[in-house]
Amino acid sequence: MRSEGKYPRRIQLEPMVHFRKSRGMSLGLVNSQGEEWHRFRSLLSKKMLRPKEIEQYNPQINTVSKDLVERLGVVKADNSHIQGVELEIFKWALESVGTILFEERIGCFDEVPSTEAREFIGHVLGYFRTMQSLLFGPPLYKIRPTKEWLTHCEHGDKVFELGKAFVQKRVDALSRSSEAQTTSKQSSLLTHMLAASELSRDEVVHTLVDLMQGAIETTSNTVLWTLYQLATHPTAQEKLYNEVMNVVGEHGDVTTDALAKNAVRQSLSEETFRKFPVTFATSRIIPRDIEMGGYTIPKGSHVQASLYSMGRDPKLFNDPETYNPDRWLGMHNDEVSKLPSLAFGHGARMCIGRRIAEQEIYTGISQIVRKYKLEYDGPEVKPTLQLVMTPDKPIVMKFVPRR
Ligand code: HEM
Repeated sequence: MRSEGKYPRRIQLEPMVHFRKSRGMSLGLVNSQGEEWHRFRSLLSKKMLRPKEIEQYNPQINTVSKDLVERLGVVKADNSHIQGVELEIFKWALESVGTILFEERIGCFDEVPSTEAREFIGHVLGYFRTMQSLLFGPPLYKIRPTKEWLTHCEHGDKVFELGKAFVQKRVDALSRSSEAQTTSKQSSLLTHMLAASELSRDEVVHTLVDLMQGAIETTSNTVLWTLYQLATHPTAQEKLYNEVMNVVGEHGDVTTDALAKNAVRQSLSEETFRKFPVTFATSRIIPRDIEMGGYTIPKGSHVQASLYSMGRDPKLFNDPETYNPDRWLGMHNDEVSKLPSLAFGHGARMCIGRRIAEQEIYTGISQIVRKYKLEYDGPEVKPTLQLVMTPDKPIVMKFVPRR
């Protein structure tokens, strides 16, 4: 990681690359390398990595999270159990990032979701499910269009088509208003990209879809793991609840001020990532020979660090199987000060959506614990490897209304 060079390289997600090449699309931020990657990255990082820029999305993220809480109330059974909470959290992740990227609500939580919203949910889900088997199976799709590949493409094409329609709506709105003159300094991400001469209109759509794909499975599964941990660790849950109630006012909005004052959520999140790192490994193709543990690893090798193994290593963490958010509270604590948090990767190519993800996750969790006490008495849930690290079974938790 420390020897990653000016243009850090990660291995590519082959089905994604194949799909994009077959449609003549650019590879986007996730899969491009070298100068092409740098061009995308420099344009986006101005808008995505500065906390002040991300704060502008707080009201939308808060509203989407409140809608999720309301939706949970609708799908909750009389005994407070929710079957299929995974889908509701998935919709929350899609709606949150969609609202930021397209500057418009998708409508996943509308009483009767629009055709657009239903298609978005179905095709994004389908795209991820088919991607998983293509990614881990033999790449036959590169030789001939297998059935699975064709289904994947059908979902992929539809996701891009829907994304394009949302971008077009924004373009139309801008051309009607004086916002078209807005300088990229004051604008949100999409407006900034549309104003940038470096990107064609198609590249704007491809980049937004890239960001969406990076955002949904990661944030939704992180929220699921956090809820599961809270439901099974009542003391940690009460501590978070008390702090949320202290920092969130009567209006019930999770503002950026409230987020800044809430220290418990940070430690909770670090501890959840330690035990259940959704992106279970971080990797680089190294640009020069390196020495490691007495071995020479030649330039061009793919080197991968397993976040899952590191998080559960007793040499790095005391009693690693125990869920203990407090271990992250003391910055002088030896245990955590010697290890940087790698959940979002590292260096120049670290996750560009980190600030958005943190804001979404903290807001979503805060809104849920304000409203519900979480309980779980089902079988132990273990991690399993899909596109990201997900629960190995549906988590049927109880969402008991607080008042
Ligand atoms: C819990 C949530 C998330 C986690 C744990 C996560 C984790 C990661 C990791 C580990 C990487 C690789 C970094 C590296 O190679 O050093 C990455 C890259 C990336 N992530 Fe995330 N991510 C999350 C949310 C998001 C969100 C919300 C977005 C978009 C809004 C996003 C977009 C991306 C993109 C585009 C890349 C590729 C960046 C590049 O290659 O320059 N991620 N993410």
